Amino acid sequence: MDATNGSQPVEPQAKAFFDSAPPLQNTHQITQKLVQFIQHNSSPSENGDSKRIVCVTSGGTTAPLEQRCVRYVDNFSSGHRGATSTEYFLKAGYAVIFLYRRGSFQPFCRSLPDDPLLECFEPADELNIQVRETYSEAVKRAVVDHHAAVTGGLLLKLPFNTIFEYLQMLQLVATSMRCLGPRAMFYLAAAVSDFYVPWKDMVEHKIQSGSHLLDVQLVQVPKMLSMLRKDWAPSAFCISFKLETNSNILLNKAATALEKYKMHAVVANELTTRKEQVVVVTRAENIIVQRDDSHSGNVLENPLIELLSARHAAYIKDSGSGK
Ligand code: PMT
Repeated sequence: MDATNGSQPVEPQAKAFFDSAPPLQNTHQITQKLVQFIQHNSSPSENGDSKRIVCVTSGGTTAPLEQRCVRYVDNFSSGHRGATSTEYFLKAGYAVIFLYRRGSFQPFCRSLPDDPLLECFEPADELNIQVRETYSEAVKRAVVDHHAAVTGGLLLKLPFNTIFEYLQMLQLVATSMRCLGPRAMFYLAAAVSDFYVPWKDMVEHKIQSGSHLLDVQLVQVPKMLSMLRKDWAPSAFCISFKLETNSNILLNKAATALEKYKMHAVVANELTTRKEQVVVVTRAENIIVQRDDSHSGNVLENPLIELLSARHAAYIKDSGSGK
């Protein structure tokens, strides 16, 4: 494989990406859902404040190698960070647009086994099934909390698979949230492909084996963080993530991303310790956030979302328009 590093400015690259991407199948339905969700969560409460809305992205995007896709390049992410953060954003009073990779980890399912449907249930008799005793509390909590969030209009779930779907959906979400001004937040935990094969250059059918060499030209995916900040939702509070496997370069890379893409904070994490510690890199300081191991069941997302929610509140206040 050969990866081409484009040196053009972002806007033409982004335009080329969107022009060549296969159009989303259900743009109209997604837009309708977004409009309804944002309207529903925009009426001021008794104290005159309006709800804050966060878009949480979660899971890895795929970059297909064939139009009728059999093979693809994937980005690692279980979706645990995004799903767990969604739960804590809801607890903090946010409405959440959860843009997630189909099949990745879901909110409220932390205490369930990997195969909840088969492991949590057992036949009660020939006609009925029941929840197994061991999982009854966990299933009840997951079902009740999930139901309350979805039927209460506080959680909108939008699935993607490919980098083409992800970036088109992120653009739709962001432009729909523009009207919220600083009340909007983006929490970009998804692991997004850095390289892709443009649709027009992609073979239609399954690549045949037979040659010892897989000859595919990958080009760089434009970083859409700049578009998000400049054009799509310029007043929103934006948090991006930086994942590295080499801890020696992590903080520098995060600080560079903070400046380059004008993020409000970058959450720096190292692959092996990502569930125990992250560093929230801001212009003023680097804040270490750790999982509190004094209680079992504690997760890092608890203090992380507490911190980011407080920073977002201050940002809204400074912007002078929290209504
Ligand atoms: O899901 P888990 O298993 O719980 O793991 C969580 C996580 C490690 C995946 C998560 O915490 C994390 O770090 N996510 C971001 C991983 C990543 O893609 O990092 P990056 O350095 O490649 O990208 C940095 C930022 O740029 C990301 O916020 C990404 O949304 C954005 N990006 C990346 C590529 C691209 N072409 N455009 C982008 O906008």
